Order: sequence, then C-alpha cells, then structure tokens
Amino acid sequence: MSQSISKLGIFTSGGDAPGMNAAIRAVVRSAIYYEKEIFGITRGYEGMIEGDFVKLGARSVGNIIQRGGTILKSARSETFRTKEGRAKAHENIIKHEIDALVAIGGDGTFTGLHKFYEEYGIPSICIPGTIDNDIPGTDFTIGFDTATNTAVEAIDRIRDTALSHNRLFFVEVMGRHSGYIALNSGVAGGAIGIVIPEENTTMDALFEKLDEGGRTNKKSTLIVVAEGSKLGNAMELARKVAERNDYFDIKVTILGHLQRGGPPTYFDRVLASKLGVAAVEGLLAGQKDCMVGVRNNAIVYNPFNDVMKGTGHEIDHELLRISRILSI
Ligand code: F6P
Repeated sequence: MSQSISKLGIFTSGGDAPGMNAAIRAVVRSAIYYEKEIFGITRGYEGMIEGDFVKLGARSVGNIIQRGGTILKSARSETFRTKEGRAKAHENIIKHEIDALVAIGGDGTFTGLHKFYEEYGIPSICIPGTIDNDIPGTDFTIGFDTATNTAVEAIDRIRDTALSHNRLFFVEVMGRHSGYIALNSGVAGGAIGIVIPEENTTMDALFEKLDEGGRTNKKSTLIVVAEGSKLGNAMELARKVAERNDYFDIKVTILGHLQRGGPPTYFDRVLASKLGVAAVEGLLAGQKDCMVGVRNNAIVYNPFNDVMKGTGHEIDHELLRISRILSI
C-alpha cells in the first residue's frame, strides 16, 4: 500500500442520488480502517473553493446508510469551470494538506476532477453516483436501482387508476440524456410503449401501438417517456395523441424529483459500500485519475480518459426488443 497518502478529501457533486450517503460512509470508514485522516468537503466544488472542509470520523457517518440525499450536500459549480476557481480550490486543498480526493457524482463531476488532476496532479478517484445510469465503465451507477424502483411503484399505482377509468396515461420519468430508468421501469411496469432518447422512434409507430391496443381490447394503457425523449416529453406526446384521437381520455404524470429521494434499496447500499471501499483501496494502491466501477460483478478502475471518450452507457437493446414482444 502507498505510504504517501495520509489525508483524503471526499465530496459529492452534481445531481444527488440515493445511496450517496452509503458511499460516503464506506469511503470514510475504509480510510479510517487504513489509518488515514479524512475530510468531508461540503457542496462539492463550491465548498472546495470556499474552504468548507470538515474532519470526519467513523461516528460522523453513523446512521446514514439508509438515508437518501447526501449529508455532504451537492452543487453544480460554474466557478470550478474557471482556472481561477480551480486555483482557489487547490489553495484550500494545500491548506488542509489533503493528498488524495474521492468524488461521488456523474460525468460533470468527473470532467472537473480530471481537469484538476491534469493541472495539479492530486491523485483522485470518482465513484459513479447518478440515477441516470449513463456512465461508461460500470454496469450500474449508485441510485439507479432505487430511482427505478420508485418509478415502478408509481407506475403500479397509476395503473390501478388507469384501469378503473380506461384511461391512457403518459408517465414521464427522469433521464435528460438517458433512457435507462424509462426502459427498465417500463418493462417492469408493463408499459405498452417506452420512449427513450437513445431510440429514434416516430409518432406513427406510437399511433400504431395505440391502435393495436384498441383492436386487441387493452383495458388500460401506459406509456413511459424519458424526459429527454427526442419525440417530445410526456406533455407534448399527450397533446399530439389527443389531436389525432378524441376517443382517448388522456392523463399525464411527471414523476420528477421524487425519483431522486428516498431510502436507497439494498442493491444501491451494497453497490455503494463496494465502490467506496474500492475507491480508498485503489488510491492507496496507487490508482489515480480514474473511475471505479463494477463490470460483471467485479471491481474495475477505468482511466478517466476512457470514461470521457465513452458516449454514455449503451442502452440494453435486448431489453427494448423484449418490451416490444411483451406489450402486444
Ligand atoms: O441526476 C440526473 C438527473 O436526474 C437528470 O435525469 C435530470 O434531467 C436532472 O438530473 C435534473 O437535475 P437538476 O434538477 O438537479 O438540475
């Protein structure tokens, strides 16, 4: 193990995700297990620039494994995008004698840390935490499982009322650039249609699906739409369908930020625990400028450059095919 690291810093950045607290706990406790000091930096890069550092102990992260959100708080920092902002952040890192960083977040977080590493050479590791599951180099990101379960629960409830009134529902889930939540919650919730940013589908295909449902006497109809769908969001799709068919009683439900909160599932807690320990062990073993992930249930360290080059996490086309078979 590397002897050169004695003080670590940890922060969460970008959109929060259920399971981030479990990851913070894992990083803090494993750092202490290996007899290192660890500081929490609040509000991500903003706190790094403003010097918001707090020493953490094993007890500081007690009773948080089950909590959504992030005890370190999160922010999207415009100032860190500037050279001056990063220089100020670096001054604070030096002041606190921090010699390695762990960030939990998504691709924006990673880009910032990679730049910081290039400029100042501080060994850093990112842990993928975003409900969108859109990071290359890992099969799962922390928060995706919880958010999808939340969406499925909501879809089940909507189905009850849809069935009572023979209504057509458009349910919009999160995913500005990613259809992962939509695809998985759509399959699990038995949706007749799933509209995602990764697929170029047409209104005609959607109309055909709805007409087929009518012909085959479907009693309730749910379409799950990712917010970033190129065909339009749930409101726009509902309007287009209403313009064509006046026989549908159409409702729209936008799940929004409720998908970002709530207690993490066991899956996200375990994933976060594994990735947190692996981040610290990786740094101590000399890993730097990389993202830790899981591929086929094994820990992998992906160089940042590879993660940056990736264009997101390829959607599961097989699952898309399955959804079409099962929605007849
Ligand atoms: O966390 C990712 C994500 O949930 C996207 O799917 C969504 O578009 C975005 O964050 C919204 O985040 P915010 O409201 O924090 O800008």
